[in-house]
Amino acid sequence: MKKRILFIAVSLLFVVMTFAQKQFFKPENLVETGVYYYPEAWNPEQWDRDLAKIAEMGFEFTHFAEFAWAQIEPSEGVYDFKWLDKAVELAAKHKLKVIMCTPSATPPVWLTKKYPEVLVVRSNGQAAMHGTREHYSWSSPKYQELTRKVVEAMAQHYANDKRIWGWQIDNEPSHYGTLDYSPAAQASFRTWLKNKYKTIDALNQAWGTAFWSGVYSNFDQVDLPNESLLISGVASPTSQVDMKRFNADECAAYISLQNKAIKDNVSKSQFVTTNFMNGHTDVDPWRNADLDFITYTVYPVAGYTEGVGDQGFRLGDPWRISFANDFFRSLKGVTGVMELQPGQVNWGTYNPQPYPGAVRMWLWNAFAGGLDLICSYRFRQPLYGGEQFHYGMVGTDGVTPLNGGQQYSQFMSEIRELRKQYTPNAAMPKEYAARKTALIYNMDNVWETTVQPQTFQWNEREHIAKYYSALKSLTAPVEIVSETKDLSAYPFVVVPAFQMVDKALVEKWAQYAKNGGNLVISVRTGLKDRNGHFPEAPWADFITNLIGGRIVMNDMLNTNKMAKVNFEGTEYNWNNWGDMIEPAAGTEVWATFADQFYAGKPTVIHRKLGKGTVTYIGTDTDDGKLEKAVLKKLYEKAGVTVKELPEGVIINWRDGFFIANNYSSSNVTIDIPASAKILVGTKELTPAGVVVWK
Ligand code: GAL
Repeated sequence: MKKRILFIAVSLLFVVMTFAQKQFFKPENLVETGVYYYPEAWNPEQWDRDLAKIAEMGFEFTHFAEFAWAQIEPSEGVYDFKWLDKAVELAAKHKLKVIMCTPSATPPVWLTKKYPEVLVVRSNGQAAMHGTREHYSWSSPKYQELTRKVVEAMAQHYANDKRIWGWQIDNEPSHYGTLDYSPAAQASFRTWLKNKYKTIDALNQAWGTAFWSGVYSNFDQVDLPNESLLISGVASPTSQVDMKRFNADECAAYISLQNKAIKDNVSKSQFVTTNFMNGHTDVDPWRNADLDFITYTVYPVAGYTEGVGDQGFRLGDPWRISFANDFFRSLKGVTGVMELQPGQVNWGTYNPQPYPGAVRMWLWNAFAGGLDLICSYRFRQPLYGGEQFHYGMVGTDGVTPLNGGQQYSQFMSEIRELRKQYTPNAAMPKEYAARKTALIYNMDNVWETTVQPQTFQWNEREHIAKYYSALKSLTAPVEIVSETKDLSAYPFVVVPAFQMVDKALVEKWAQYAKNGGNLVISVRTGLKDRNGHFPEAPWADFITNLIGGRIVMNDMLNTNKMAKVNFEGTEYNWNNWGDMIEPAAGTEVWATFADQFYAGKPTVIHRKLGKGTVTYIGTDTDDGKLEKAVLKKLYEKAGVTVKELPEGVIINWRDGFFIANNYSSSNVTIDIPASAKILVGTKELTPAGVVVWK
């Protein structure tokens, strides 16, 4: 009985929480679309025309002020909201809601000249200079004070303003990869360490400072680890992981400070969020659970990806937007994309034109992840400044829609039609739901394996993305979740390269399998404890019983040398990481090495555990084909049908609609049941094609 009451209470709490986040959005709107506009940068006589055009193109909201501190507070303590009020008024005139942003990413020059201690200091000891962004220290008490003041002033000014839909804090909180060595960060790091370890002995133990005479006798001796000052390797990799944890905590605390300053002042109907950079791992979006929800920014085509086929560089990676959807939604059950690439950009290694129709495909892919809002950076192409050549919705004349702008308009009119087809509370189709898979993600492991990769080829994010991509190519709904998530709702759980564990976590995974779940574990998992130490025990001892086999050693090769694994008569190439395993009695061997001095040794094993199963995949391939084949076998063995997709195609489901996107460079035909109603497009997809059916 008690258990039932607890279950009901937990379910109610879940409903209340979901409702709490959903309150800002109307489910029947499916998704709302907006665009960034910078009134401070354009002639005020053009604002009315521009905002009218934004509405005419089909946008439903706009986004103001994230870089406007110099205009909002032209001198210390003197605020000017007149211009912003005028812009808000014109937005409302054209029925555009407003996302108001706090301007902390760009402190004005009066501020940094008067209080230079607020600046980030680089690893070479030099302070950042005015004229950039994200160059302030999260740890600076002075910057925190000045931020609080300007944010409170804005929040009080727009406290009950119905025209303000919600708030965005800062812009892409990060230091764009720069670590902060300012005196403020140094002082804060020592406080952070004292709070974490309490005694210097505990720090010495955790950091393993007996190595290379690294021992500290008090916290004041501990400096922020600075790679550029380390001569040959590092005495304590744990110290570097701690620095990354600290850095992410500092960012999260700074966002929370602003969240509080807003929430203490504004009406509950206004949401508070921020826009994290998708894929950027110096900060940790999941640390800001105090926000109403988190959003992300994504630029799929900027010269950094090959994609699929000859034109893949114009289409982007098929998994990227879906991965972001499934990662950012996971925190609160609600998310949005705050910046989606509008067309050609200026900051890539080279900046190709996206494939015709690619922008619309990305929009549909973002929609497919259940997003409530999609916003584009930016409305007008800039005429000056650091982002010339960057497309907007309209070009340099300020009025003519560019190709991306036209695709936004097309998407928005398609969405308005789709809204008519919305049915509340549509249940996920059974066959699709049967493949539901949780992918466990952990930032500490991303950081730790970056500090000690063991092979220059190791990239934890790419390893995780490889599994994600394999799952999506089998048409599985995937949720990217933290280790604390209750796993009972997922028939399949994948644990990729979760290197640092503790006994309780491994026990949780074992219980999940014993209760009937199918657990998949990949290389590196369970090698270390939470401090990054090996346990004094046989290799990989944490997981030996769980996987039903002892990992005896691992190997890795250079990129120009491929080794082979045999799985069901097919040979797969690898050179990144391979584990050799001695299976215990009763464990099935699924794949073995086909060459090298360990030819014949098992590397993929599978066992029953209680009512469920555990599969260990001990080889990391570049193309993910082995991993995909093993996952496919596992689904099928568990009695679940898989739908294998052509390379580059991705299918997602939301609110009763299936959405297929073609990221490949070839034409493909999507297998759509004859009973389905096609609502957008046709089942024959050209590259960048989209089809939506019900
Ligand atoms: C984003 C950033 C925007 C703008 C954009 C250009 O990462 O948040 O402010 O710089 O890139 O593509």
